[in-house]
Amino acid sequence: MTNIHPIHDRIVQRAEREIGNGHRAGVIWLTGLSGSGKSTIAAAVERELFTAGHFVVLLDGDNVRTGLCGDLGFSLEDRKENIRRIAETARLFVAAGAQVLCSFVSPTREIRAMAQDIIGAEDFYEVFVNTPLEVCEARDVKGLYAKARAGEIKGFTGIDSPYEAPENPFLDLKTAEQTVAASAQEVVRAIRNELTLQ
Ligand code: PPS
Repeated sequence: MTNIHPIHDRIVQRAEREIGNGHRAGVIWLTGLSGSGKSTIAAAVERELFTAGHFVVLLDGDNVRTGLCGDLGFSLEDRKENIRRIAETARLFVAAGAQVLCSFVSPTREIRAMAQDIIGAEDFYEVFVNTPLEVCEARDVKGLYAKARAGEIKGFTGIDSPYEAPENPFLDLKTAEQTVAASAQEVVRAIRNELTLQ
């Protein structure tokens, strides 16, 4: 980069912010099919951590695809750019001391590996919202699976666009076997265990 001079030695350091917040920063990355429950679980986690006084930020489709990534669609190329921008945003929030919940389909291992590279492996916690396609399709909360099956939406994840399950996630939430509250508690417990100050 030409003529760009970061001023790292003049900004408030992440470690100072973490001490002020009373917890470490990091990114909890929720991946799963559309309708798997990512956003619902992430919202419950956000509420609980916020109530407990954490500096917590939720990034998901509702606040990202309408603005920062409003120009992007669902080709694999656009999804990659979507996730790249989100990961860069999450990285900035981590530097500011936040616990960042990212809730995105993020369908391929390559895309998630890119996010992990941008954020840094030590700050990246992958959570698989592991809901079988049949369950997501039966729920069909937004009616998108019916449209995809009817050919009205092309390139829908799990139907005619790939979803690659994580191979070794930090957490594997089997949402068809437990309540949203129980899944959220698993995430909260993991954050409390992992992101404590030393
Ligand atoms: S990605 O793949 O990570 O860039 O996707 P993401 O930003 O999470 O957006 C997924 C939400 O967009 C809606 N939607 C689609 N999903 C998958 N495939 C296609 N073609 C598609 N078109 C629209 C869908 O409602 C997803 O919302 P969630 O909350 O995941 O159900």
